[in-house]
Amino acid sequence: MERVLVVGAGLTGGVCAALLRGAVLRRVVVWDKARGAGGRMNTSRSARDAACTADLGAQYVTLGPESAESCRSLCEELVSQGILKQLTAPIEGMVVKEGSCNYVAPQGISSVVKYYLQQSGADVFYEQHVTHISLRDGKWEVSRKMGPPEQFDIVILTIPVPQILQLQGDIVKIVNESQKQQLESASYSSCYALGLFYEAGAQIDVPWAAQYITDNPCIRFISIDNKKRNIESSEIGPSVVVHTTKTFGSEHLDSDPVEVQQLILSHLERIVPSLPKPDSIKCHKWRYSQVTKAVPSCLGQMILHTQPLLICGGDGFTCSNFGGCIDSAVSLAESVKCHL
Ligand SMILES: Cc1cc2nc3c(=O)[nH]c(=O)nc-3n(C[C@H](O)[C@H](O)[C@H](O)COP(=O)(O)OP(=O)(O)OC[C@H]3O[C@@H](n4cnc5c(N)ncnc54)[C@H](O)[C@@H]3O)c2cc1C
Ligand SMILES: *[C@@H]1O[C@H](CO)[C@@H](O)[C@H](O)[C@H]1NC(C)=O
Ligand SMILES: *[C@@H]1O[C@H](CO)[C@@H](O)[C@H](O)[C@H]1NC(C)=O
Repeated sequence: MERVLVVGAGLTGGVCAALLRGAVLRRVVVWDKARGAGGRMNTSRSARDAACTADLGAQYVTLGPESAESCRSLCEELVSQGILKQLTAPIEGMVVKEGSCNYVAPQGISSVVKYYLQQSGADVFYEQHVTHISLRDGKWEVSRKMGPPEQFDIVILTIPVPQILQLQGDIVKIVNESQKQQLESASYSSCYALGLFYEAGAQIDVPWAAQYITDNPCIRFISIDNKKRNIESSEIGPSVVVHTTKTFGSEHLDSDPVEVQQLILSHLERIVPSLPKPDSIKCHKWRYSQVTKAVPSCLGQMILHTQPLLICGGDGFTCSNFGGCIDSAVSLAESVKCHL
């Protein structure tokens, strides 16, 4: 049976795999280097209590008047499945555009990606870090850090653009000069995210569920994450998420993570002095956080090779939000279907 590989179990890869279901009488395999699903839609768990979670990356799904019909109907489906709920908690400093609506995921934002992976019926494998893509006997031979290389008839890359450019093997000479220039012109912001997890019963006394900070050199956003998601409970401890500014993120990209964490915590203490001491802390570096310049003149994807097909997409080919990922996934799936 022909085999299709999707590299990346983020929103783009998940939706793309789901859209290929049925359309292809082929086996779809998804590989991701991480230990679970979500990518930048990351939901992290407390080291002490797995029920205590925090969204370290994306916070909301936003539907605006400009959202495409495909995006609108997928969002409605997620609401009807209970994966998304309208955001009702108070967020200070959030700019809500006329006619737009925000949704949160009560079970954590990664549940959105998990839903699509489940729908896809694909075989999903984690801790599969792809390193090389080469041609062999008219197929793609894909190597990963651990385990033997495997062959696929079609490969779909949904990883951040700079990580596509890091792949080794024949892919390096397959990408022609003009495509390489297009890919190299994409850029991303960087930031850090801190997840603070508290014991059940810990009191966090602030009147907001989240807040955008505009006058701090380090911190841009603070969320009382369980409150943001409307899941206040007496059995599960609260959690807090802190995002740094892009400037802080890029200035500290290669700093010692322990020092970065200390620095963020010291700013946090000044902004919210009443915060109790957390039970555990996770510090996540988003080297490729949000797209600041997308790959130019492409419609959500780029075909790197046709026979066999090697195609790439992701928010780097559109923009960094739910709609951007859906547009890219739809465009990837259409190209693959056309090719078959
Ligand atoms: C801090 C932050 C806040 C955000 N806030 C919002 C928000 O509120 N609303 C919103 O809509 N969007 C938000 N975004 C953007 C949104 O998260 C992204 O646009 C979206 O998740 C991108 O999905 P993707 O599938 O294209 O890429 P990713 O989610 O990055 O998925 C790519 C996957 O590929 C894997 N991978 C990478 N390299 C390899 C390799 N060599 N081999 C195997 N696997 C590999 C990664 O592990 C990852 O899982 C935010 C992002 C960040 C970081
Ligand atoms: C989410 O972030 C946490 C904290 O850095 C990390 O341990 C976890 O592996 C990430 N999950 C995924 C699926 O990437
Ligand atoms: C590069 O490759 C793409 C797709 O294979 C092709 O459309 C384009 O014309 C090529 N450009 C050059 C300069 O060879």
